[in-house]
Amino acid sequence: MSEGSRRIRVGVLTGGASAERDISLATGAQIAASLHADRYEIVLLDPLALMSRNRALTAEQRGLARALQEEGPRPAAVPTPRTLPRGLEQQIESASRSLVPATRAITADAEPLDVVFIALHGPWGEDGRIQGLLDTLGIPYTGSGVLASALAMDKVMAKTVLVAAGIDVPRGIVVTRADDPAARSVPLPAFVKPVQQGSSVGSTIVLRAAGLEAAIADALRYDDRALVEERVLGRELTVAVIGNDELEALPVIEIVTSHAFFDYGAKYDAGESDEIVPARIPDAVAKRAQELAIRSHTALGCRGMSRTDLIWSEDGRMVVLELNTIPGMTANSLLPKAAREAGIPFDILLDRLVRWALEDADRRAR
Ligand SMILES: Nc1ncnc2c1ncn2[C@@H]1O[C@H](COP(=O)(O)OP(=O)(O)O)[C@@H](O)[C@H]1O
Ligand SMILES: [Mg+2]
Repeated sequence: MSEGSRRIRVGVLTGGASAERDISLATGAQIAASLHADRYEIVLLDPLALMSRNRALTAEQRGLARALQEEGPRPAAVPTPRTLPRGLEQQIESASRSLVPATRAITADAEPLDVVFIALHGPWGEDGRIQGLLDTLGIPYTGSGVLASALAMDKVMAKTVLVAAGIDVPRGIVVTRADDPAARSVPLPAFVKPVQQGSSVGSTIVLRAAGLEAAIADALRYDDRALVEERVLGRELTVAVIGNDELEALPVIEIVTSHAFFDYGAKYDAGESDEIVPARIPDAVAKRAQELAIRSHTALGCRGMSRTDLIWSEDGRMVVLELNTIPGMTANSLLPKAAREAGIPFDILLDRLVRWALEDADRRAR
């Protein structure tokens, strides 16, 4: 793919329409800053610009999409519902200022992109839909394809595939109404979360039956289905897997939080949780978690990278909660941290992800 010394033109897709827009912008800024300028020509693209007629979005989001289309790069008013550390806020601001509407990058007269680095999370970015658009346009992109992305984003489908592969997942049921009596069949304490969401948005631990309906109602604000699961108690681990055909499980990370679980604040506020890498667990347990992460990655058909969240339960179960096909990718996020522990610095990691994307595309083109 390297034609002479011409730089590889990378579109970093950032922003978008999910609840994780702010995190995505910080990620996009960091990726753009860490891809080596001598090899890569980088443009930050906001796919929100493609969505001005999408009625699944709020009127405010569509307004922002129109503004992006019409005015191009501008200090986009980014709705940040929660406070973030100051460093991240600054990166979000700076990314917002240099955003180019994705509409412009995919028109026939635009200079073609060699590859897209998808720095989006959650619905529209991590769930296969943008991947499908890029496949249709014939633009290679980092990470998993349509099917694996869609399966992983839907926690019910992901669990179905994982169970078929013999992997232990939390027992539970799916409901579409807060007052569905079936929810009461799940033993308490329970854990309630939206089927398709990330960053623990809309998730609650339910200790008493009286709190169940409100918890489901909260999850249903983010999705039309909610998972009511057994609450698995134990040590929380997360294992990243990188590679295309040859997979490498990175060192296991243990998450210790002062919050009741790894919620939004615990994930993004400094000092609210410790991410210990390598995890302080016996080697055999770490190996088991790594093997499980590789099996989960393979079962869903992931490419390039994934991060499997799991709990090593008090009674010795190793329970997979979910897979992230586009895990947090700021330099200090979990996957880059584990990569660093394995001797792979952030810039090399990004480099490999781009190379794997081009490799997959070359293979398909043959
Ligand atoms: N069944 C469960 N039992 C105990 N804790 C859970 C359960 N499901 C989720 N959690 C907690 O909630 C966090 C977020 O859940 P997860 O399934 O990883 O979704 P996401 O990260 O996409 O929001 C987990 O890191 C864990 O702390
Ligand atoms: Mg998770």
